[in-house]
Parts: sequence; C-alpha cells; structure tokens
Amino acid sequence: MKEIKLFAPATVANVSCGFDVLGFCLDPIGDEMIIRKTDQPGVRITKIEGQDLPLSTKKNVAGVAAEALLASLATSFGFEIEIYKKIKAGSGIGSSAASSAGAVFGINELLGRPYSRNELIQFAMKGEVLASGVGHADNVAPALLGGFTLVRCNKQVDVVALPSPSELYATIIHPKIELRTADARSVLKKNIPLNKAIEQWGNLAALVSGLYTDNYELISRSLVDVIIEPERSPLIPFFSELKGAALDAGALGSGISGSGPSIYALSRGEETAKKVRQAMEKVFLPMNIDFDTYVSKINTEGIKIIE
Ligand code: HSE
Repeated sequence: MKEIKLFAPATVANVSCGFDVLGFCLDPIGDEMIIRKTDQPGVRITKIEGQDLPLSTKKNVAGVAAEALLASLATSFGFEIEIYKKIKAGSGIGSSAASSAGAVFGINELLGRPYSRNELIQFAMKGEVLASGVGHADNVAPALLGGFTLVRCNKQVDVVALPSPSELYATIIHPKIELRTADARSVLKKNIPLNKAIEQWGNLAALVSGLYTDNYELISRSLVDVIIEPERSPLIPFFSELKGAALDAGALGSGISGSGPSIYALSRGEETAKKVRQAMEKVFLPMNIDFDTYVSKINTEGIKIIE
C-alpha cells in the first residue's frame, strides 16, 4: 500500500468534570487526509484545503506529530500529507488533534502497523504541544481509539478506553468565534481549593461508573464542572443561556467542549439530542452570531480509512 485516504473525527475533550483527562469521539464532523509513502525520506505537507494553515512541517501539528513517529522508527521511507480541513481551528472540537492523530495513524498504516492505536497517542500529542503549549491527550485519544477515553496520565501516556452507552447522543453548537486553547488555558488558576477538588473527582469517578453501567441518571448527575467552567464560561457568549436551554430541553448535561467556544450536551436518545439542538439554536438565532450545530452518536470507531 502506497497511499491511503482517511477520516479523522472531531472530539469533545474534558466532558465537564474531566479536565485534560476525559474525552469522546464525534461522528459526522471530521477532516479528511491523504497520506502517501515516498522514497524520499522526511515528512512533507503538500496540500491544505479548507483552512489557512502552515505547510511547513515544523509549524504544522500534523507535521510535528508525523516527525515524532518517524524519529522513533528506523525507516528510510518518507511521507507526503494532504489535509482537507473541515474542523475549524480554535473551535473546541479537537481540530489540531484530528490532524495530528490522522497523520500518525496514516503513516502507521502505510508502515504495516508497527504501533497499536493506543501507542500512537504519544506521537499525536506532540501536535497538541505545538498547538497549545501543553501535551494533553484528551482529544487525540478519543480521535484514535473512538468512544470515551480516560487519560490516567498525560506524562507517561497511559490511556484507558471506556464504554459508550448505546443511547448516548451528543449535540454541539459552535459559535463561529475563534478561542485559542492557549488563551483559554491562560485564564485558569494554577491551584484549586480542596473542597472543589473533592466535588470534581467525585463527579468524574461517578461519570466513569455511569458509562460502565449504562446508568443515564448517574451520568446526568455527574456532568458537573465546579473548577474550569466557572473560569472559562465568561469567554463564551451566552454560555449560561445555551446550557440552560439544553438542560430545559432534556439534556442529561451540558458544558464547554474542550477549551471552547463550542458547547456540548449529552442526551439519552437521538430525538432528545435534536430537541436540544433546536433549543440551543433558538438562543443564538436572535443574537446575530454565526454558528454551526451537530447531532452525533458517539463514534466508537475513531479514525477510519475511507479509501
Ligand atoms: N483539555 C484541553 C483544554 C482540551 O481544555 O485546554 C483542549 O481542546
């Protein structure tokens, strides 16, 4: 095999109580990439459509991640990458993660899979370091593995795949303003009070338990963020109105998707997720803010080859 075309999905990181550790994979939104094996060593990004991003390998998250993977292997092959961006940079649904994860996944396939999907996370994270200054795996892990993922440790990458209850659906609203992850991280306090930490890890543990037991009520009670959301939500226009509308329409929970500005909601069943979308759209329509919305089942497959 010399060339593959793949779909690299968008993802929701944090999922309220799991800042930097929890994430899940979306279905209808994602980038397409073509990866080509060449005899000339090294990585070249030959085409980017849909977004004004650098072609220079060292300045592009896909290039940096691909180079990290190649540096770990004794191979004389090189690779060309074409990126067809559908996920907007700075949207909060894992745009940089999709490109980074797609690049390492594609190269790994063309090399005959020297690494498992889980092992590829460490290389894809190098792209996140370029994008946000911090190596967090909570977007690249669900992009590569699909479903819900939990990062036990971001330093010596240790990621656990979690189950995805079959009736769980996500609604995403993306107000078309750019919020860079680095900026959304700069507003965060470096220390947190013990009582808040206790609430947060109680909710995170209970959410994981709810995913394992298909306990939608427990999932709903646990989708609470007492640490990050209060600090970041002022950066997102009409956040509390959108979240309130989602909950009133029957969502199990709602919060900031990744570092924002997108907002996610989780619902039991597609019908409720669609009602949540309508309710969120109703908040934004009179506000003169351009936005996109999506309803998605949880994508349990992750990145996939399409050609
Ligand atoms: N966990 C990261 C953050 C995700 O919230 O900064 C960025 O998409």
